[in-house]
Amino acid sequence: MEIGSMLEIQPSALFEGNRTGSFALPLEADASYHASYYNTGRSAITHLLQFLGRSRRVFLPSFICTSVTDAVHRAGNPVVFYPVGEDLQPDSSFLSSASPAPGDLVYICQYFGTVIEDDAMELFLSLQKKGILLIEDITMSLLSTAGAHFAFGDYLIGSIRKWFAVPDGGILYGKEKLPELPGDVQSVNEYTTYYFTAQMMKQMYLDAPDLYDKDVYLSLMRHANDVLFSDYTIRPMSDLGMRLLESTDVAQVRKQREDNYRLLHGLLSDEEAITLLPAPADGMIPFCLFLLNEKRDDLLRRLIDADIYCNIHWRPNDATDRFPSSCALAKNCLSIPADQRYGASHMQHIATVLKDALSFL
Ligand SMILES: Cc1ncc(COP(=O)(O)O)c(C=O)c1O
Repeated sequence: MEIGSMLEIQPSALFEGNRTGSFALPLEADASYHASYYNTGRSAITHLLQFLGRSRRVFLPSFICTSVTDAVHRAGNPVVFYPVGEDLQPDSSFLSSASPAPGDLVYICQYFGTVIEDDAMELFLSLQKKGILLIEDITMSLLSTAGAHFAFGDYLIGSIRKWFAVPDGGILYGKEKLPELPGDVQSVNEYTTYYFTAQMMKQMYLDAPDLYDKDVYLSLMRHANDVLFSDYTIRPMSDLGMRLLESTDVAQVRKQREDNYRLLHGLLSDEEAITLLPAPADGMIPFCLFLLNEKRDDLLRRLIDADIYCNIHWRPNDATDRFPSSCALAKNCLSIPADQRYGASHMQHIATVLKDALSFL
């Protein structure tokens, strides 16, 4: 049994067409936001910043993906980093003493279903009242429902392609007018075609591992990722990606992820060797189970040996190096898959393997 990594595509999904009536993420029920679909989350970030203007300073959390910082740098805006604690809470006293001014942009990350604490919320809302625009990155909590602590930003951005069996997809929501999606570029590029092909091949491999060579689809996936990190053309989401989304039962995906997360969280909650986030509040759906362990790299290796493929959100980079708490997060964090492909038996299996691995560290 292989768990994690790229979401495979069932070719039959392409025959199913529109199962749900219309594709809708939970936030689409919120009439106060307009929505635009991009090829990637990074395209949505750069396009929004180009639209708002490059002279605005962007206050960015120092614990974040390089694809976010790179997208901001591509737009050309000056950046001020602010720290987040090891509990993933934004450091509101640092941010307030850095004095964002009207015209500045504050980028907030909604980390893995955690709820932003009241002092940071008060600060964000007071900045918003002063005319400072808040950009909320909902990638790691995309399917959560709006509430006082989630979806309060002037703009929301998210990567759809990480959550579903689609090759591309990023979302930009805004309370005000959004930039026009570029009409003169193709939605599909070499990344999309190679990734899509690798996703279909992975499904074939999982169905018949003795028949197919895993390295072949892995090499296509690697090529796709090389293009993802070199062709930054801002593109709309492809019809192919949309079509696959429309065949997806989003409510079911949400429920499966929530059930998996809660089960795995419960199974691991007595493990002293790891630090978990608190169980998510109602309505919050984390992307994966985020944990901290000081021997993270050994743990990652042992899980790979057991065919459990975890992500690291995020490895040390220029931004995380700036503050000790972000540095510690980047050194110790591991993301355990708990997505819609899996059910209770997989979560039991992950917990057993993980506990066993921890006992050897
Ligand atoms: C928090 C966060 N926001 C945005 C992005 C960008 O999304 P995409 O990979 O679709 O460009 C990523 C990851 O890459 C991310 O981790």
